[in-house]
Amino acid sequence: MKMEQQERLFKDDELIKWITDITDAEIAEVHKKSLVPFYDQLFVEGHGSYLKDSTGKEYLDCTSQAWTCNIGFANPDVAFAVSEQLKRLTHVRYGFPTIPRVKFIHKLASITPGNLKKIAVNAMGGGAAIEAALRLAMINKPDAEHFYTFTRGYHGSSLATMTLSTRFAGVTRFRPWGLDRVSKIPFPYCYRCPMGQESEKTCHLECLELAKQMIEYGSVDKVCGILMEPLQAPGGHIPAPERYLKELQHFTRENDIFLIFDESQVFTRIGYWFSSDYYDGVVPDITCLTKAVGGGLPMGVTIARDDLTGFNAAEEHTTFGANPLMFVSGLVFLNYIEKADLLKNTREQGDYLTSKLKQLQKKYDVIGDIRCPGLFIGVELVKDPETKEPANALCSDLIEEATNQGVIFGHSAPISSDTGKLFRNVLKIKPPLIITHEDSDHIITVFESALEEAIDYM
Ligand SMILES: Cc1ncc(COP(=O)(O)O)c(C=O)c1O
Repeated sequence: MKMEQQERLFKDDELIKWITDITDAEIAEVHKKSLVPFYDQLFVEGHGSYLKDSTGKEYLDCTSQAWTCNIGFANPDVAFAVSEQLKRLTHVRYGFPTIPRVKFIHKLASITPGNLKKIAVNAMGGGAAIEAALRLAMINKPDAEHFYTFTRGYHGSSLATMTLSTRFAGVTRFRPWGLDRVSKIPFPYCYRCPMGQESEKTCHLECLELAKQMIEYGSVDKVCGILMEPLQAPGGHIPAPERYLKELQHFTRENDIFLIFDESQVFTRIGYWFSSDYYDGVVPDITCLTKAVGGGLPMGVTIARDDLTGFNAAEEHTTFGANPLMFVSGLVFLNYIEKADLLKNTREQGDYLTSKLKQLQKKYDVIGDIRCPGLFIGVELVKDPETKEPANALCSDLIEEATNQGVIFGHSAPISSDTGKLFRNVLKIKPPLIITHEDSDHIITVFESALEEAIDYM
């Protein structure tokens, strides 16, 4: 007996039919059988920055489908390499290295900032990477189990990562687990300063001073780490000021507290590999990636300082965590970004789009704030630039109208309070990093036309 390929059971066209043929009745009926709600469009194909739905309509997708397909949909190099791997080996148990796993770890470690050189990868995504980061922090500071996170933050939808995230009051219908282990501090949201400051010139980082007081004197337990999105994404697209991060890093180092970054959405999208490359000299102790890093396949990554003690086999493992296909896809992703010089394109297209949006801001006073960098663009819509009352309905209407016109924009997460306040007024422009100048012009044309339509509904 020796190793040989199994016989095929199905013909090519039979298998292709399964994945390309569908009736309207099948689409309608599936809603009754699904535990989760679905959007209206059923996408059947995607190439470059465009998606096609089952009616044949094409869309320029400025969400990159949950900010993930940064090198385009059905990237041909990923498709080729993954299908070659598919023919060779599709699954191994967690502890086994494979050629793509070894190559991916070396490649990623060659671009990580500072001494962030120890890597663990999972096949589930960001929440799993963040939970691994917390476990690693607790292994390295065994007497401390309390963590601080930020208002408006989002770190996942598992029972533990929901605790770390903002509470979606009135949206989710249960309490997550581990609430006694997490406290929140205010995010430095300068457009709506939590300390009431109106200008950067008069700001003395009062929000950070408050956070330090809370941590030093108000903690219910010994503090292990502070988890932060350095550029907050779902909660409103808010980059923290560099001086805030520098001061926070100094505080965590002085107090032997781990600084853990969640860079799920920003890796490559900001026009730099890591936020540390953008915020000069701010390097966390542990950072977490997901979304784009898998080249379109599921992946989450936890990266730690090389002097930290790693996991034992029981502390970090999952059935699918060593999936060779995702490592191939991730490896192609990292090399593709480099070879196509996509970080440069991201900065150029991002600057162009942002400058065009700033011109529109002079014309439409509902555009309250425009935030970047790179193709991590958020447009905060307000009813009045003085009161800054969030224009939630305008934002939804604009997104709906733009979708009708063939451009998909993203929506910020619903930041809600028990007193009935709701912020869902940040429109996100986060297309694949491969967009061209013509795509950018098209995005701006549709944005303005949809904005005018949406203002008419007001
Ligand atoms: C900033 C951030 N962190 C964590 C996550 C959770 O990632 P996942 O959904 O892969 O668990 C997300 C997902 O949207 C995210 O945007």
